Amino acid sequence: MIKKIAHNQLDNILEQQNRQIDYNSNQGIENNSNSNSKDLLIYLHIPFCTRKCTYCCWTAHIPSKILMNFENFQTQFVDSLCVQIQHIGPKLMKAGYNPRHVAWGGGTPSVLSIESLEKVLKVLYSSFDLSGIDEHTFESSPCTLDAEKISFLSSNGVNRVSVGVQSFNDDELKMLGRPHNSEEAINTVSLLRENGICNYNMDLMFAIPNHTSEIWKQTLKQALALDPTHITTYLYNNTPNTVLTDLINKGKYQILPMGEMLELDKQTKQILGERGFYESISQCYITRPEHLHKSEYYVQTYQGDYIGFGNGANSSIKQHFLCNSSDNESINRFIQNPVHFDNCVKYTPFVYDSNIETTFMRILNALCTDKGINFKKFYDHYGFNFEESNINHELLNIAKKTNSFNVSDEGISIKKEDRNIVYIKYLLQVLRIKKPVGSSICD
Ligand SMILES: C[S@@+](CC[C@H](N)C(=O)[O-])C[C@H]1O[C@@H](n2cnc3c(N)ncnc32)[C@H](O)[C@@H]1O
Ligand code: SF4
Repeated sequence: MIKKIAHNQLDNILEQQNRQIDYNSNQGIENNSNSNSKDLLIYLHIPFCTRKCTYCCWTAHIPSKILMNFENFQTQFVDSLCVQIQHIGPKLMKAGYNPRHVAWGGGTPSVLSIESLEKVLKVLYSSFDLSGIDEHTFESSPCTLDAEKISFLSSNGVNRVSVGVQSFNDDELKMLGRPHNSEEAINTVSLLRENGICNYNMDLMFAIPNHTSEIWKQTLKQALALDPTHITTYLYNNTPNTVLTDLINKGKYQILPMGEMLELDKQTKQILGERGFYESISQCYITRPEHLHKSEYYVQTYQGDYIGFGNGANSSIKQHFLCNSSDNESINRFIQNPVHFDNCVKYTPFVYDSNIETTFMRILNALCTDKGINFKKFYDHYGFNFEESNINHELLNIAKKTNSFNVSDEGISIKKEDRNIVYIKYLLQVLRIKKPVGSSICD
């Protein structure tokens, strides 16, 4: 059902594109390879952290000895990352791509030393034309940024930083296994503004076990006092193979009932709303349109292709999904052969994106934006019509039965009043029951 493409994977895909352009426009490839300019997002995945947090859904499958061992892996990983960027960047430029956004994520990119960051940035700038970059965003954790690193990032094109704060309550931070306390988080965020980064986000988590409305209110108030341009509130996701889920299963903690999750979400909108914040994309709050998290919006709403560098990163190029997985051995594989993708498949209506969970989340996140899913953009991205996928077909059935959707010939979205994360979670459950067999294309 899924066609794997072996060696020279990216070259094959880009070749196909050139032949298509050649055919459609009736021009020679050599005249044409740069004429079909297409937007591109560049994602840099740094698979290291100073601590494995007790709740983290992104790193649950990565052994601590690899995740936290960046002192040993850093040099080799960064060298391989540079080889990968140098190998792929010029090919994409030649194929007519136009980089629009750069996003560093992980893991925790801010664990890298300035020397490592400098190496990667140098190669990035020499492999791509970054003159058209709008957003250059960098994910971080408190205590992994200092004044020198922040000024370095700011003077090398980074114009947005995200800080994983999670909570300003010290007991909660301990339960979450965070390597910092609330004071250290406040200091890190304050340093950003003092050192030239005024566009910053804070990640906060709500509905974590034992959460109360009073604690959440205090966290939100403290976040607002630090004057962020963007706040992301993550609904706690009870993730298998994490320490916290294990404790929940043993009865030490309890998951909040749905009613309380809804209340906290309502409280969020009220408290942030009083300070002029509105929801731009699902759970992302801003006060002004220019502070929209553009990279996130780009991916969520199928604005264009993206290339992901580093093991653990996904790419979507010319209706193909490519990835280097993040299993136990992947870091060694990546270090030895950074130009080979573990997985490279053409999207099919049966399975697309990295796995079924990602597919659901992307669809649902996109449905919660003002424009929702545009059917043409969806087609351009995946190469098949929205309703051809059985997941989407089911969604359209739900849309017909409920009054919560706007559906037109152009696209589909969830009505503003029904866009809340708890409702989405419910929808996810309904869709998950219908999930197709063989639902993963990237381990
Ligand atoms: C890829 S992490 C990177 C953040 C950064 N490494 C840090 O933690 O400081 C992005 C965000 O995902 C959120 N997150 C991680 N695990 C989660 C879970 N189980 N449920 C809800 N949100 C989660 C956290 O808010 C985290 O800041
Ligand atoms: S929450 Fe951030 S720091 Fe903690 S394990 Fe996950 S990615 Fe690493």
